[in-house]
Amino acid sequence: MCKNSTSQLLSFIKNSPTCFHTVESIRQMLCENGFCELSENESWNLTEGGKYFVTRNRSSIIAFTVGSIDYSGFQIVASHSDSPTFKVKENAEISVSDNYIQLNTERYGGMLCSTWLDRPLSVAGRVIENINGSIKTHLVKVDKDLLLIPNLAIHMNRNANDGVAYNAQVDMLPLFGGIDAKGKFAELIAEECGIDKERVVSTDLFLYNRMPGTVWGNDCEFVSAPQLDDLECAFTSVKALLNSKNDSAICVCGVFDNEEVGSGTKQGAASTFLYDTLTRINYALKKDMEYYNRAVASSFMISADNAHAVHPNHPNLSDPTNKVYMNKGIVIKYNANQKYTTDAVSAAVFKAICEKANVPVQSFTNRSDMLGGSTLGNISNSKVSLNTVDIGLAQLAMHSSYETAGTRDIDYMIDGLTSFYSHVIKTNSDGFIEIKE
Ligand code: CO
Repeated sequence: MCKNSTSQLLSFIKNSPTCFHTVESIRQMLCENGFCELSENESWNLTEGGKYFVTRNRSSIIAFTVGSIDYSGFQIVASHSDSPTFKVKENAEISVSDNYIQLNTERYGGMLCSTWLDRPLSVAGRVIENINGSIKTHLVKVDKDLLLIPNLAIHMNRNANDGVAYNAQVDMLPLFGGIDAKGKFAELIAEECGIDKERVVSTDLFLYNRMPGTVWGNDCEFVSAPQLDDLECAFTSVKALLNSKNDSAICVCGVFDNEEVGSGTKQGAASTFLYDTLTRINYALKKDMEYYNRAVASSFMISADNAHAVHPNHPNLSDPTNKVYMNKGIVIKYNANQKYTTDAVSAAVFKAICEKANVPVQSFTNRSDMLGGSTLGNISNSKVSLNTVDIGLAQLAMHSSYETAGTRDIDYMIDGLTSFYSHVIKTNSDGFIEIKE
């Protein structure tokens, strides 16, 4: 049987084919739960007990609750809204041999190319309309099987089972239609927005995998779906914020765009978005910069991004003593070179938080001869520096267009993060931290 949290996650993913839709899905969850929307270009009036959120580029979002005007610190969970995909280029249509229309695309992030082949795809993103010189943004999701990237037959590449190099400009272009499709793509997109083709000025459109998520395995212990990295952490962190109550700290839930391409955009984790939001909260609560600096020194951040479970066919690709498995609890990620922010202090705090909620944890490191990926914790620390732990849920096939994780872990993450937001983490002096009810 599919558990409630799993089916909620799957419908969240279904409604969130791009970073823009992810932020819109979160926006709706927050609005339904009494959160007020703030705008970065207006002044903020915050009250004790208030619940707020702010977006930047409509692709990153930060939600927060004001536990107390004399707040003790910030308790932050950060995750990301984007996933590897293909971006549709300008002037997208390509005609092939006067018989096919395909779309010109380029890679966004580091995907496993083969997983995008031979399955129904479509496009989603945002469309900018020009209205008498002003611009208006439309969210668009073409909700039908529209595109497919066909594999090359085995007869045309006899070496296909010995490894294939995929050329993004040659092998990965999706087929849109027969020659009659010529000129129809821009028309279709305008139609989806309910506007004339001439009014469309520009677009940010991405491919998305149409395969619906599914729960499977002997005991329904696995869930497979697009974008589990990192919508699993985004969804569970928002759920945890909605579940929790804290009368002392400012609880913050940030979901940032562009992690898959290095975070270096105006809305990414390397931007000023988090810093600006925290300092503006401090200012709106009529505190000075010293108060802010003291609060940050007493704050704690969880950087939540999925981790590699042991692969059943390749167990020896995992570290010899730090192997993590799906459904065995939240993964704490370690790296000596601090690609992951975890250190002995932050790991200890996180373990204590999970213990209070009876949530199991596991330790992850990469094999010493393998480079791991990076994430947003250490990048974010360059603007707002505070005690941080890197965590995630164990999953298989990271950056496939269809990833696999454990259904029990979804509840572990919601419970663990709810425990984080519900306790007060108080730094008494450097390295001496109290976790209070
Ligand atoms: Co990720």
